Amino acid sequence: MNTRRYSPIDHLIMNVDQALRTLAGKPLVTERPDPATGVQQIDLDDAQKVEAARLMRVNHAGEVAAQALYQGQALTARLEKVRERMERAAQEENDHLEWCERRIRELGGHLSYLNPLWYLGSMVIGAAAGAVGDKWSLGFVAETEKQVVAHLDEHLQRLPQSDTKSRAVLEQMKIDESEHGASAKAAGGAELPSAIKRLMGLTSRIMTRAAYWV
Ligand SMILES: [Fe+2]
Ligand SMILES: [Fe+2]
Repeated sequence: MNTRRYSPIDHLIMNVDQALRTLAGKPLVTERPDPATGVQQIDLDDAQKVEAARLMRVNHAGEVAAQALYQGQALTARLEKVRERMERAAQEENDHLEWCERRIRELGGHLSYLNPLWYLGSMVIGAAAGAVGDKWSLGFVAETEKQVVAHLDEHLQRLPQSDTKSRAVLEQMKIDESEHGASAKAAGGAELPSAIKRLMGLTSRIMTRAAYWV
């Protein structure tokens, strides 16, 4: 277990490092294998590939945002226990980031050109959530993950049935996101006001629509 205590400057440097890795480099991932590895995949036609790549691009952009949200919260969350939890969750989101990117490349698609924008915006939102207090910050994670699970269900409906590799990735992500949400709730996450929930839903709809095209 890592017992070193980091200064605010250490945290700042680690966050800049994390941002650059997310946007342009190799993210820090866990040891878990890509769920698509070894999954039998029949050939998709061109239209199916284009559609699947678009949907996976949306998911990848969502993971960029998730990464930044967690990093933003890690910057401002007060309790050391919560900060560690956020940093661990951020690393798991990196697995998702890598799995989605690999699948997009296989399908011949590209990442969202707006990723730096999603990252910056989400980092600010995450830092704000962390700053208002741990119970709200954890409540924010729980609500985010709940909305992500609903979104993944929708994408599992929309993805071509025959795209078994993308589906394997999304199924595992769904399991992880609901665990992230449940553990945030168990750690004391408060139920957010419904106006905030609606605003979060609206923001993610804007993001998912834009990332589908660019
Ligand atoms: Fe994720
Ligand atoms: Fe998550």
